[in-house]
Amino acid sequence: MPGIAVIGCQWGDEGKGKVIDFFAREAEIVARFNGGPNAGHTVLYQNQPVVFHQIPCGLLNPKTKGVIGSGCVLDIGVLGEEINSLRNLGVEIKDRLFIDYRVHLIFPYHKAIDQIREKKRAKIGTTGRGIGPAYEDKSARIGIRLGELKDWGEFESRLKKNIAFKNFYLMTVYDGEPLNEREIIEEVESELPNLLPLIADTSEIISSSLKRGERVLFEGAQGTLLDLNYGTYPYVTSSFTTVGAIPSGLGISPKAIKDVIGVAKAYTTRVGEGPFPTEIKEELGERLREVGKEFGATTGRPRRIGWLDLGIIRYAKRVNGFDKLFITKLDVLDEMPEILVADGYLTNDGEVEDFDPERVWELKPKYVKLKGWQESIKKAKKFSDLPKPAIDYLNFIAERTETEVIGISIGERREETIIKEGFNLFS
Ligand code: GDP
Ligand code: IMO
Ligand code: MG
Repeated sequence: MPGIAVIGCQWGDEGKGKVIDFFAREAEIVARFNGGPNAGHTVLYQNQPVVFHQIPCGLLNPKTKGVIGSGCVLDIGVLGEEINSLRNLGVEIKDRLFIDYRVHLIFPYHKAIDQIREKKRAKIGTTGRGIGPAYEDKSARIGIRLGELKDWGEFESRLKKNIAFKNFYLMTVYDGEPLNEREIIEEVESELPNLLPLIADTSEIISSSLKRGERVLFEGAQGTLLDLNYGTYPYVTSSFTTVGAIPSGLGISPKAIKDVIGVAKAYTTRVGEGPFPTEIKEELGERLREVGKEFGATTGRPRRIGWLDLGIIRYAKRVNGFDKLFITKLDVLDEMPEILVADGYLTNDGEVEDFDPERVWELKPKYVKLKGWQESIKKAKKFSDLPKPAIDYLNFIAERTETEVIGISIGERREETIIKEGFNLFS
């Protein structure tokens, strides 16, 4: 049962989209198991950046099918926009995209609540896409699922009840404006013809595909430190981003996960509020942001920048159980005369090696200084083409995290990818 997971090791935006797009050529299915339109996975296609929010990136490969599993939440309006922009690129989703009937829907009231809370309550720095409130409704058992659209009468009456309740909540708790019931219902109704053919039991689809020996990629969204359980709570997202979420978010056996690839940027970024031990507050951070084009793919916000933190990768390795790493954006460090890497931390009462979300505010990184390469690496085709300091950097990461670096990304384009000789994803 060859299923491979691609999981972000840091706070998201590690370049998972590019890695998935690269490997999708070898997969029959690419499946999302968590999150929703808070994700922004960018792939360069025909020299244009294409940002995927809910649809799996693998669909740019004509032979690959996409699944959105029950662990995800879905914004119907965003989905319509994504489908249209793919169509404009000549990519058709008909008979290629399947969305689980159990997926919970995000409605305008979820977004309104998310956004008003960010203004009036302690700020998390969310994407404002309604993610937290939608997962709250799911847990509270008042959420509305995609499959309910098949019975429009029942769906409409449940939606009306929710709108009335949420308007009351918005007005009384947050002094907010009520939302227009008619507009919400009409928006859903207008998307119905597009939506109904996509509804499926994707647990069954993936399970039988795996049984036939087909190859499946599990596309992680967000990153390990944004996981609702294992991340830097409360500065996290509202879904489970780590490997354990795959069987439950897709309704498949854990045995289907043959291997896990951890994706980490050659440095660290974070969008939104929360702790960030290796954050670079000086001008250098701005320079890296500029070179790495570090602006949120979903909200356009500038991403916070920091040095690579090996304690975080060791923690991500523990939580997700990977021993293979894919390092992205190595080219962004091209001009650095020296590169700092955090390898363990000083705490109030000693030292620790691995990242520890419980003590994160007291962790002071212990830095190792490595030599930069100060030349462009974009033209390299194999590891041995890289300058020695770049090879030393990768070797240091591998050694100190006890992982194998099976691939690196040295630019936005698909061709700007190097896979370790002899490495085969599915064999
Ligand atoms: P994801 O959310 O993990 O898929 O990552 P994002 O797409 O949000 O952010 C990664 C950004 O870096 C995107 O704009 C990619 O096009 C870009 N990118 C990916 N890999 C590389 C790389 O190796 N070098 C450079 N310079 N850019 C890259
Ligand atoms: P991808 O899949 C980076 C962050 C938000 C905020 C926190 C909670 O592109 O890596 P939410 O809207 O989920 O309630 O926000 O999580 N966040 C991301 N940061 N990449 C993402 O996704 C993210 N999805 C959510 O910035 O700090
Ligand atoms: Mg992203």
